[in-house]
Amino acid sequence: MAKKRKRDRRQQQQAGDSTGASITAKESNDAEPSLSTKPTAADTAAPAAAATTSHAVTQPCRERSRLYTSAITYQCATQNVCIPCAYKICTFDVALDTVFTKMVPNARPESCPRSATTSPTECGQDGTMGYQRGMSVLTVGDGDLTFSLAVARILFAAPRNQQEQQHRNCSRLVATSYESRDTLLNVYPNIGETIQELESLGATVCYQVDATNIAGTLPEDVLKSTSSKKFNRITWNFPCSAIGSGQDGQNDAMEFNKQLIRDFVCNSIASKLLDKKDGEIDMLHKTKPPFNQWQIESVALEGLDAECKGTKDELEYKGRIAFDRCLMPPYVPRKALDKKSFTCHDACTYVLGWKGERGKRFGCTIPIPLEDGKNEGAGQEDGRGPEPLMVVTEDMIAKIRQIHLDAKMVKMAAAAAGGRGGKGGGGKKKRRRK
Ligand SMILES: C[S@@+](CC[C@H](N)C(=O)[O-])C[C@H]1O[C@@H](n2cnc3c(N)ncnc32)[C@H](O)[C@@H]1O
Repeated sequence: MAKKRKRDRRQQQQAGDSTGASITAKESNDAEPSLSTKPTAADTAAPAAAATTSHAVTQPCRERSRLYTSAITYQCATQNVCIPCAYKICTFDVALDTVFTKMVPNARPESCPRSATTSPTECGQDGTMGYQRGMSVLTVGDGDLTFSLAVARILFAAPRNQQEQQHRNCSRLVATSYESRDTLLNVYPNIGETIQELESLGATVCYQVDATNIAGTLPEDVLKSTSSKKFNRITWNFPCSAIGSGQDGQNDAMEFNKQLIRDFVCNSIASKLLDKKDGEIDMLHKTKPPFNQWQIESVALEGLDAECKGTKDELEYKGRIAFDRCLMPPYVPRKALDKKSFTCHDACTYVLGWKGERGKRFGCTIPIPLEDGKNEGAGQEDGRGPEPLMVVTEDMIAKIRQIHLDAKMVKMAAAAAGGRGGKGGGGKKKRRRK
């Protein structure tokens, strides 16, 4: 038992979360990193020496292959010196950057200054995470339907001009869950209001839809209307078997879950519900151990062999985007059949799209394989394109590290100065001793 605890602790440290948000197979749902930024003895020891100079990156920090971030997340990490946003970009999957993670422990998501914002200029904007007015979107396996609601608020947002009105008129969202409506109402306390808002915005909500047999479980009328307007996005966040009581995502179910993903992607293609030009499959997935071992980017394409002849060479993994929940309110990730939430600060949206340039209307959320070092926005010419994305570069990581390590040094210096003779510091104690 003690050995297991030790192992879990080691895994937790490897994952760069020195404050308690471990990703062991038995991840605690509510565990969030502590908010404390007080320097500890460990903070001021060896790592401080390493950080006093240039904070140079001396070891690989993160697996950066095809890794993107929203520009807003980057701005938050740099301009707001937001620790959770710095972690999203710099440290997950397995945090190799031990200097940074020791010096700057992760902080609670609520410490992000944007966590409470509902301002439409910062979230819910047309193009956020690639969702745009006029799109046709299918969500599958949505737990309490809050992700679907976040998407609905983008697709059906109040138009500011005639063009936006026209786009909005074409928006379509089919929000689905694997469970029945009664089960959802029993499990999730506020889901009634969520369904109400979804329907009043114009979304269609369907129940008991199987992501591995979409055409076989969607209602007939939905299938009929899809034949003339295929889906531009099919999204399954945190694909995982429907084992209840917080037991989903366990290590021993990894192979089962990998097969679920193969079947989902294969079925999305085989069912011919995805637009052949402007179609994309998106999945949110955690990246810390053991979830990085799923290798979702390659597993997702493996199922195409058998049933989707001809498509195998047409669909490809485009890349992944560090997930920023502040951009998608009121989304809260939920465990299967359980009202408990779980941490998603290490999650990325994995994007699968058609090879080459196909659709011009919406494009891919990650439209062009941007070269390393070029932080181009992924917007469209008419300016209503997706939220600008940035390639996560080595320079970007170095800049974020520098800002945060500098801020930490300033804090530590201030704390030390306070201890030496500031108000109520050592001076007073000395006088008392006399
Ligand atoms: C980890 S939960 C994530 C829930 C939700 N997507 C979210 O982000 O909060 C996995 C979800 O997948 C659903 N699920 C499991 N097997 C499924 C299947 N074959 N088809 C569709 N959904 C499924 C479960 O019911 C559960 O709601």
